[in-house]
Amino acid sequence: MENDIKEILFSQAQLKEIVEKLGDRISKDYEGKELILVSVLKGSVVFMGDLMRAIKIPCYIDFMSVSSYGSGTKSSGVVKIIKDLDTNVIEGKNLLIVEDILDSGRTLNYLEYYLGARNPESIKICTLLDKPDRRDPALKDKIIPDYSGAVIPDAFVVGYGLDYNEKYRNLPYVGILKPSVYGAE
Ligand code: IMP
Ligand code: MG
Repeated sequence: MENDIKEILFSQAQLKEIVEKLGDRISKDYEGKELILVSVLKGSVVFMGDLMRAIKIPCYIDFMSVSSYGSGTKSSGVVKIIKDLDTNVIEGKNLLIVEDILDSGRTLNYLEYYLGARNPESIKICTLLDKPDRRDPALKDKIIPDYSGAVIPDAFVVGYGLDYNEKYRNLPYVGILKPSVYGAE
């Protein structure tokens, strides 16, 4: 796997520091509130596992699985719900959507709309990585992460949960995939 990585963007130690900072902020902001962390499968599982342990207030966890039609390195924008929340009633609860990476913003835009229809008290977004250069122009002012670990340039990254065709999720760091791996060189 290592041979397919062009450059390491965030080491294990750097990721730990990023996640701890996010956990501290979330713990302060949601003190005394009913918080549900909603992990978007599968990319955010590694981040979720570390983030929930960096949060020092009581919180609940739940998972959603969505597919954005099409594999490879681009999302189509059409989102299909594969697995919905287990929690039946989210009215009055504070949802924090935990994502691995914010790219075009179309997945999160759809999720906000979909979950918003069930009247939660609030919906916010926590993403480990943000690629603002790739945002759908129509969503530039609409999808802004409330918590973002790091802004990265327009490159395809893998590791720490992030995949290319389901591979590389178990790399402990985040690295840029060599474009030759996905035939773009
Ligand atoms: P969006 O709907 O375009 O914002 O797509 C977000 C989803 O696309 C993320 O949750 C990832 O699953 C996937 N994605 C976007 N960029 C990358 C990347 O650089 N590496 C791996 N997955 C990515
Ligand atoms: Mg994802």
